[in-house]
Amino acid sequence: MQKKLLSIVASVSLSVGAASIHAAGTISGTPHDLSGKGWGTTELCKYCHTPHQAQNVSGAPLWNHQSTAVNYTLYSSLTFKGSVAQPGPQSKLCLSCHDGTVASDSFANGGVIQAGTHFMTTSNLVGGSAYLGSDHPISFAYNSALATADGHLNPPASANFADAGSQLPLYSSQLECATCHAVHDNTYGKFLRMANTGSAMCRTCHTQ
Ligand code: HEC
Ligand code: HEC
Ligand code: HEC
Ligand code: HEC
Repeated sequence: MQKKLLSIVASVSLSVGAASIHAAGTISGTPHDLSGKGWGTTELCKYCHTPHQAQNVSGAPLWNHQSTAVNYTLYSSLTFKGSVAQPGPQSKLCLSCHDGTVASDSFANGGVIQAGTHFMTTSNLVGGSAYLGSDHPISFAYNSALATADGHLNPPASANFADAGSQLPLYSSQLECATCHAVHDNTYGKFLRMANTGSAMCRTCHTQ
């Protein structure tokens, strides 16, 4: 009896926990789960992280993948008010598979990177041919001064989040790939941070 009660209590608190965790999906089974590919390791996280002997990449979370060495042509337009720089550390992590110059399976074993052979082809290529000019700008400061200068932007909630709901993170005020994408969670498709139905995600920042 006591056992049954305990398991009811446990399952109730589990479901409450799950409901209160925002976007509770995981990386397992998503296009970022490379563990079943037969590419040299069945360890899911190892393609990108390691607990020890990580690559010495400043600003990266225990990174275990070869980094891109590309210098990109950056976004520009007549109306863009931001000031873009070469991609910041957080975005370079993505580009170190997605720009097509580094293979997805170029991860490290005990700190030594193996030469992978599986390169991004056309469909998910971003920054290919060293060109970021046709992608949403990244690696620039999104702050209230920019919002005022633009005239059609909500001011960001803080240096850590674009929105008051804390769904779209900023990295020391910088807008990066991971502002819009959750690399570990495909709940909304295309690894988006939130649903973009009716362009809801765009309109969290833009007031058009
Ligand atoms: C395809 C590459 C990739 C795989 C596989 C991956 N991660 Fe990550 N991870 C990233 C990137 C990129 C970031 C930085 C961007 C961000 O913070 O969202 C990150 C950030 C993190 C962070 C710090 C920020 C946070 O979200 O808490 C932790 C912790 C983490 N990953 C854990 C894991 C674990 C555990 C696994 C395996 C179950 C895993 N990751 C698998 C790419 C990956
Ligand atoms: C996290 C906030 C955020 C999200 C989400 C976001 N944007 Fe932006 N976007 C910005 C900021 C900040 C700028 C820079 C604006 C400026 O400098 O005038 C920008 C720039 C742009 C520009 C270029 C403006 C110019 O003058 O060249 C376009 C177009 C644009 N965004 C469209 C979109 C679309 C479409 C979406 C949804 C798919 C989207 N944005 C999602 C914050 C965001
Ligand atoms: C270790 C390599 C690697 C890293 C690092 C990585 N990706 Fe990917 N990504 C992949 C692979 C492989 C696919 C699946 C490609 C395919 O099958 O065509 C993919 C697919 C995607 C897709 C498409 C998902 C879909 O539903 O089709 C998006 C979006 C994406 N990645 C965004 C990101 C972003 C943003 C980051 C950084 C925060 C990132 N990726 C980091 C390897 C990587
Ligand atoms: C302002 C938000 C925003 C930023 C910043 C952003 N993305 Fe995306 N990305 C999107 C949206 C929205 C989609 C889905 C587009 C669709 O389904 O039509 C997408 C789609 C993708 C895809 C799937 C292929 C495609 O073209 O549809 C990949 C891969 C991807 N993004 C990677 C990246 C990488 C890498 C970065 C940084 C260099 C990045 N994204 C920055 C919003 C963003």
